Amino acid sequence: PMIYLITPTYARLEQKADLVRLSHTLLHVPNIHWIVIEDSSTKTALVTNFLRTCGLNYTHLNVQTPPEVKMKATDPNWLKPRGVLQRNLGLSWLRKSSKTTQLEPGVVYFADDDNTYSLQLFKEMRWTKKVSVWPVGLVGGLRYESPVVVKGTVTRWLTYWKPQRPFAMDMAGFAINLRLLLQHPNAQFTNAVQRGYQESTLLTALGVMLSDLEPRADGCTKILVWHTRTEKTKLKNEEKLRQKYGKGTDMNMEV
Ligand code: UGA
Ligand code: MN
Repeated sequence: PMIYLITPTYARLEQKADLVRLSHTLLHVPNIHWIVIEDSSTKTALVTNFLRTCGLNYTHLNVQTPPEVKMKATDPNWLKPRGVLQRNLGLSWLRKSSKTTQLEPGVVYFADDDNTYSLQLFKEMRWTKKVSVWPVGLVGGLRYESPVVVKGTVTRWLTYWKPQRPFAMDMAGFAINLRLLLQHPNAQFTNAVQRGYQESTLLTALGVMLSDLEPRADGCTKILVWHTRTEKTKLKNEEKLRQKYGKGTDMNMEV
């Protein structure tokens, strides 16, 4: 089976560094199709050129998050959902492509551009029948969050935050068989749900029940993905350099 990886991404100083790091992980994974969706009204030169030379099979899409729901740099990072329209565009691309071309059977995974992924994770998710699940490290104000597995079945969620959610896991904690997504053409994410309910919204719309979940990573006893976040770079010396020497760094240099 193919792994279809849906990655929303947006312009920021650290974007290329994050994309390079993620692509180097993905280059070690066979049979992968990378669907990269820019949060932008146009495809940027940076991402376009990066994808052309990254060595992976990819599809490049773009859709801009409308200003009403877009995060401001000063907003706390939990205030507004991120990547919602971009992931939905990835899903509709898969649905559309399945009608026009013969898409290979496979599994769909939502891979944010700044997380850290073990190669073992991709081996675990590839044979997903409906929905596979596993723990995620460094998330939810905890060392990790995890499905709680009793005799091979997920019974509840080990999280501090809203454990009563139907599927109380991070976006990085599950993968879905493509067939299931095609069988439910209207299942998608939405900006209209409370914080933390994106994952539950999609999985509920797919008709998934707890008993359907396939625990991976040794019965959810191993951490194979980490919710890392890239530190925002401080540019405190750019202005000082300009004052001291009359000009700062070369703005034509792509970073
Ligand atoms: C957490 C979750 O792990 C995400 O899956 C979830 O989308 C997000 O919260 C949320 O609150 O909606 P976090 O590290 O806080 O993740 O979020 P980011 O990594 O900043 O963003 C998630 C994805 O959306 C990334 O791939 C990022 O590139 C993209 N993004 C972010 C956009 O496309 N547009 C934005 O304005 C911001
Ligand atoms: Mn992130």
